[in-house]
Amino acid sequence: MSETIKIKGGNILRGEVDISSSKNAAVAILPSVVLASEIVKLYDVPNIKDIQVLIKLLGLLHIKVQVDGDALTIDPTNIEEVVLDDPDVNKLRASYYFMGAMLGRFKHVKMLYPGGCNLGPRPIDLHLKGFESLGATVRQEEGLIEISAEKLIGDDIYLDIASVGATINIMLAAVFAEGRTTIKNAAKEPEIIDLSSMLNKMGAVIRGAGTSEITIDGVKRLKGCIHDIIPDRIEAGTYIIMAAAVGDHMRVNNVIPQHLGSLLAKLEEMGVKMDVGIDYVTVLDSSHMKSVDIETLPFPGFATDLQQPLTALLCKAEGDSKVTETIYEERFKHCYELNKMGADIEVETGRSLIHGGKSLHGASVRATDLRCGAALIIAGLMAEGETEIFDAYHIYRGYDSVIEKLRKLGAEVE
Ligand code: EPU
Repeated sequence: MSETIKIKGGNILRGEVDISSSKNAAVAILPSVVLASEIVKLYDVPNIKDIQVLIKLLGLLHIKVQVDGDALTIDPTNIEEVVLDDPDVNKLRASYYFMGAMLGRFKHVKMLYPGGCNLGPRPIDLHLKGFESLGATVRQEEGLIEISAEKLIGDDIYLDIASVGATINIMLAAVFAEGRTTIKNAAKEPEIIDLSSMLNKMGAVIRGAGTSEITIDGVKRLKGCIHDIIPDRIEAGTYIIMAAAVGDHMRVNNVIPQHLGSLLAKLEEMGVKMDVGIDYVTVLDSSHMKSVDIETLPFPGFATDLQQPLTALLCKAEGDSKVTETIYEERFKHCYELNKMGADIEVETGRSLIHGGKSLHGASVRATDLRCGAALIIAGLMAEGETEIFDAYHIYRGYDSVIEKLRKLGAEVE
């Protein structure tokens, strides 16, 4: 696939777009199959680069994955514990879920550090502290991390930060631990609920996912299951923002509106009129948009993953908008790219100030990370003239069939 996306701006987008399943749920669910003793069948798996890499990593563990459209049949019956030192481990953040899953299954894991979008420092100390609380020992050498335990014993674990990754990783490691593990100040993101419901179908005993206290009662074995993955709330949010930017009654299908409460509230505050149905959102009118201030927070607060796409829209809204980023204080690289297109955004550590009411023009820009790429697509659609987005591979990591979906809506994109 080409590494450059070209967009000719100015087209009005119409019709409907179907949202794919959640990347951040799927990238936890695939490694979790390491814990299963039988076949797991997954439906609605998004066709994105991160999933292709995870399928390869599962293969290295001798887990057979059969792909049939968006369905995966994953057979872990011949699983073998190997050192995950393949360079692809570095290609995505979610490879860190092999730590929890393999520690749970084999009481041992040795692998490279995870990669992922460069959003500033992304430590994994809370994951490791969690594993240690369960009785594991962590050793780090030459880029590899080795975690081992004679046995894992449930414990009370308080997370200093409600981290999505640490909550999921501890859940994975604790499924087979002896006794009860309680995660306090757990993250509440919907993707955590989805993983927990799948693990419970397989025989795990996890309660409280979606609240700040999760308990996991250890079991001896997980069987197989069939699971449909939840819709991607960030992809949905991206297309809803796009609909407000350049749509005419554009409808976004396969949405769980409850997962998008903070975005929908902000769009309403901006003056965007929407029809919010049980599983869709149609943007009815966005002709008079005014500025808003946003602060990113853990769920159900405003998602950090949506502040970048929303910034593109705020360039158009009248007035000054302030964005405060409390999750990743360096997640502002998109602002410099948007400025190349005629935006007027000032950036300081942890915040940006968007002077709105600007008309954007096409330019050559770079997708520095996945959601920066999404912001640039929205900006490119709004801009006059042609926009070239380099390093588009970041976008393919997380947005399923993005070119096809945009074309179907009437965008001129290649
Ligand atoms: N943190 C620590 N120590 C840790 C773990 C996290 O200090 O051990 C800090 C992070 O540096 C950050 C905050 O805690 O400041 C929250 O990080 P979290 O662990 O929740 O993030 P993550 O699990 O690494 C996931 C998503 C991100 C999304 C964040 C926040 C996946 C694979 N990634 O990352 O998604 O931005 O939660 O919601 O689920 C994306 O999809 O574009 C993306 C970056």
